Amino acid sequence: MTITQATEEDLPLIRDIAYQTWPNTFGEILSPAQISYMLEMMYSLDALTTQINEKKHVFLLAKNTDTDEYLGYVSYELDYTGQPLAKIHKIYLLPASQGKGVGRLFIDQVGAIALAHQNTRLGLNVNRYNKAIQFYERMGFLIVGTEDIDIGDGFLMEDFVMEKPLIP
Ligand SMILES: CC(C)(COP(=O)(O)OP(=O)(O)OC[C@H]1O[C@@H](n2cnc3c(N)ncnc32)[C@H](O)[C@@H]1OP(=O)(O)O)[C@@H](O)C(=O)NCCC(=O)NCCS
Repeated sequence: MTITQATEEDLPLIRDIAYQTWPNTFGEILSPAQISYMLEMMYSLDALTTQINEKKHVFLLAKNTDTDEYLGYVSYELDYTGQPLAKIHKIYLLPASQGKGVGRLFIDQVGAIALAHQNTRLGLNVNRYNKAIQFYERMGFLIVGTEDIDIGDGFLMEDFVMEKPLIP
């Protein structure tokens, strides 16, 4: 397995992985209409291009080097809102690639990159009903807050804010 930084050329692939992963992740949490709305908002090629070029989000891709198949992605932003905090915006693995240790590798890699940039915490938002919360707790994240975010069209994101201190 390799982890490499994505470029603009990889954005269609990232979008495809999201479209394969979201129904499985959020099918029992969000309405089909909200899933479609959020996918368009966050994963249209325009939205992804803005994230990578203007918002300074960095995407990493995991690839199975035996089969050449991509397994999933993580995106992060260093110095989030001027704080020494690396914000993980997205972390998604294809359903068949979950539970095999790749998520842990992503968190470890982003943590190492963050520390090398003097960022001393990892932060993220997670839907309050997503079982990924248990994964994050296992990785050393703690719930530090609750946020309800109005994303338009009558839809709400009901999140926990989680953080993990990084130890140099
Ligand atoms: C959440 C996700 C990134 C985790 O990555 P993963 O590769 O499946 O997790 P790992 O195999 O690296 O698991 C690491 C540890 O967390 C534990 N863990 C993972 N998911 C868990 C869960 N749902 N409940 C309890 N523990 C869990 C594992 O048992 C493992 O523990 P161990 O080190 O003691 O063996 C991945 O499952 C995923 O993409 N899920 C769907 C998308 C999603 O919800 N993304 C998060 C959006 S905020």
